Amino acid sequence: MEKISIIKGDIAYLPFHVDAIVNAANSALVPGGGVDGAINKKAGPNLAKDMLLLGGTKTGTAVYTKAYDLNADFVIHAVGPRYKDGEHGEKELLVSAYESVMKLAHKLEVNSLAIPFLSTGVYSYPLEEAISIALETVRKDNLDARVYFVAFDETTEEIAKKILEK
Ligand code: APR
Repeated sequence: MEKISIIKGDIAYLPFHVDAIVNAANSALVPGGGVDGAINKKAGPNLAKDMLLLGGTKTGTAVYTKAYDLNADFVIHAVGPRYKDGEHGEKELLVSAYESVMKLAHKLEVNSLAIPFLSTGVYSYPLEEAISIALETVRKDNLDARVYFVAFDETTEEIAKKILEK
């Protein structure tokens, strides 16, 4: 069973070690902005090299690399959907992205995991729905680990805490 907490901050600068940090990547695994930019900046250039060597991963899936200078052992690169109108399989793809993260978390036997809210930045997924999907999908999984959802701002933190308490 996961023990889920919501914390506010920069996922690249967590004040404690986690076994894996989840990146909000794109399907080409070409380092971008947002979480991806912050994680790459802190990890150092080897992370981008590893990402590019992997050659991409489909939307709704995840792959992993080492974490280099991040305070973690692994980075799980998950690709959430770009939100169009909700009629393009966005929900299923977002669920699938989190399920892929959890599958790798089992494989890597992580005891702690930090996750951003995938697709809620550059990919414009409506915030409340994306947070509900994130919490619901991760809660359903039976991984025995501490899971920290990292909100970047107060609004996200408040919404997430409310949904988690439900
Ligand atoms: N720490 C925690 N959360 C962050 C950080 C950070 N350093 N930076 C941004 N966020 C928040 C955003 O506010 C948003 O709520 O993480 C959420 C996800 O935002 P994005 O990083 O933009 O991710 P996403 O919407 O999935 O878009 C992915 O953006 O950077 C590119 O390469 C990436 O093309 C991909 C796309």
